[in-house]
Amino acid sequence: MSSKQLYIGLMSGTSVDAIDVALVSFYQEEAKVEGFYEHPIPANIQHEISELCLPGPNEIDRAGELDQTLGELFAQAALSLLEQQGLTSEAIHAIGSHGQTIRHRPKAKHPFTLQIGNPSVIAYRTGITTVADFRAKDMAAGGQGAPLVPAFHHDQFYKQGHPRVILNIGGIANISLLNDPPPQRLLGFDTGPGNTLMDYWAQKHLNQPYDHDGGWARSGQVNAELLEALFMHKYFSQDAPKSTGREEFSPHWLEPILSCHKNLPAKDIQRTLCELTARSISAAIQQYAEASSEILLCGGGSKNSLLLERISALLKGYTLGTTNAVGINADAVEAAAFAWLAYRTMHSLTGSRSSVTGAKRDLILGGIYPAG
Ligand SMILES: Nc1ncnc2c1ncn2[C@@H]1O[C@H](COP(=O)(O)OP(=O)(O)O)[C@@H](O)[C@H]1O
Ligand SMILES: [Mg+2]
Repeated sequence: MSSKQLYIGLMSGTSVDAIDVALVSFYQEEAKVEGFYEHPIPANIQHEISELCLPGPNEIDRAGELDQTLGELFAQAALSLLEQQGLTSEAIHAIGSHGQTIRHRPKAKHPFTLQIGNPSVIAYRTGITTVADFRAKDMAAGGQGAPLVPAFHHDQFYKQGHPRVILNIGGIANISLLNDPPPQRLLGFDTGPGNTLMDYWAQKHLNQPYDHDGGWARSGQVNAELLEALFMHKYFSQDAPKSTGREEFSPHWLEPILSCHKNLPAKDIQRTLCELTARSISAAIQQYAEASSEILLCGGGSKNSLLLERISALLKGYTLGTTNAVGINADAVEAAAFAWLAYRTMHSLTGSRSSVTGAKRDLILGGIYPAG
């Protein structure tokens, strides 16, 4: 392959805040993010997604309809990016669509993970070949199916002689450890909650989707007893490979713990939830990363200044920055990763790293839904 190929990556994470759309060019396997756009998710669809993230009645009908609705919305998101960039569908080689996770159960008796947003609808509406369902093959091979972004992080951000940690703070937080060989064994895992619990609490008490810059949390104080109770969650003491989701760090888990701390002001709870995220991330980095590592942040949580201050204070000796400093918009990294994964699949190249997910081997991921 000698000419440049363009791919689109579509991502909607556990925060359900927006559909991230990245335009990525490939020239002889070298990826470059060329454009980025955030497509809004209407409030009623956000609500339907959140309702399906936890067990409830009539799930098959609700999930089936939402699968179609989200397929349409993902297609619109891709078409809006094309319009913004002055491109037509013919210019795009393929779309990589992560889909919307509504359930992730890597520890079930029969482990499964479910992303919806029908790729046939995306391929039909856009006229662009769509690659989707990236996680299932890794699970078939005994892996967690997650996280999948570390391979892309390695491709983009690995620098010899310069250990780095890529820290993505979405609804859930995950890290990729880009250390030197030998042996070059890429590691990465979900550290636990990123913004999801803080978002839930801000929505409940401020009626806002998130605590802007952690301002509300900053007005409260950490409650040591509550923090200790939250850290009792068994996920924190599990070894990698591991992955988690909203079903584990949910209001159903949080509220019974909070009911034992009824007299705490809501702002103290927000501050304590922020501390939980900061400390669980910092502990994971201290346990696995080289002490001199540079930490590059991405994802929406990298804009929460209180959270950053706390991570920075807990990780003295590490340097902190965002991926913006090394050329990729911190909001675009995850969507770009799915464009990259689609490129890998379209060229019969492996996309997963078994050392990250625990699968039997590295695999070519996803299903291809041809255009036309
Ligand atoms: N200025 C900000 N201050 C605090 N939090 C923010 C800010 N901007 C974004 N966020 C957080 O980032 C989240 C979105 O991050 P994102 O990386 O898109 O997560 P996901 O991958 O789970 O969708 C929002 O829900 C919010 O919690
Ligand atoms: Mg998001």
